[in-house]
Amino acid sequence: MKLVQAHLDILQEDINTKGWCCLPNLLSKEDLALYTTAEELARTVYYNENMLERRVSYISDESESRRSNAIMVSERKNKELPSIHYDEVLGRVIEPFNLILSLFTNEEISPSSRTMINFQTYYSGSKPVRDHFDGEYLDYEMKDAYTLLLKKAILPQFVAVLVLHNENTEDPNGIVLRSLDGETHAPRLDAGDFILFDNIMFRHSVPILNKPRKIIGFRNFDHNPFQFFGTELFKELNLHPIAADGWHPLKDNYNPGYIKSISSEEATKIMAKFNKEEWPSKWKKVKENNEAVF
Ligand SMILES: [Fe+2]
Repeated sequence: MKLVQAHLDILQEDINTKGWCCLPNLLSKEDLALYTTAEELARTVYYNENMLERRVSYISDESESRRSNAIMVSERKNKELPSIHYDEVLGRVIEPFNLILSLFTNEEISPSSRTMINFQTYYSGSKPVRDHFDGEYLDYEMKDAYTLLLKKAILPQFVAVLVLHNENTEDPNGIVLRSLDGETHAPRLDAGDFILFDNIMFRHSVPILNKPRKIIGFRNFDHNPFQFFGTELFKELNLHPIAADGWHPLKDNYNPGYIKSISSEEATKIMAKFNKEEWPSKWKKVKENNEAVF
């Protein structure tokens, strides 16, 4: 995906005025080959028990109708957090997203800052995805098969999705954004189209889609993200008064809570602490329950 100055100007104008932006037709044949190789790597070389245990790779969601793979990629080695680095293919994949992120945060992206890239392939349509915000979910409870109660997370401000393939022709044919006052935006998202949106301002969902579709998503949880506590936990931790500490309420129909803007260093500390103290027991449970499919 090659971004020229005109794209960056449109992105800047739209994000500043609306909080979201679509750029059509950004995919060349070379790009498609690059993303196909990257997806192959995420599914094979970087998908094994060791990579999952280290949290370089995330548990794949695989069924007859869908396959999803997510990996953490950085340009250079991150001393404290796990990632794939020095890889020519994946480095090229994250480059445009880093360029966009530095533009909107007015800060260079550290070469060790990690981007989560995820590939989602729907072979024959997809179930609906309900309204949610994206994040690195650090603590949650499954209330039932469909209801997740989020307790702790790191939220990226910006989420980007590039559509690699889409045979769905009805409207909407991809992501639907909903602002907190209920206004929805359902841009048409065909192959090659790119969408960037503010994950704090908007909730996003995907309707039932009947035909094959493939996307790649980009998120960075390391670069000046937000820390999130669910309402219950926030009260338990006695974090009031909120304004004094920089906490703000985050409205959400399912997982309301509080967020606070944190520095990249603080985010690194939180993640490193989680990986050291909490992940090993969670990983043990994942293995016991055979949640990871290879
Ligand atoms: Fe999402």
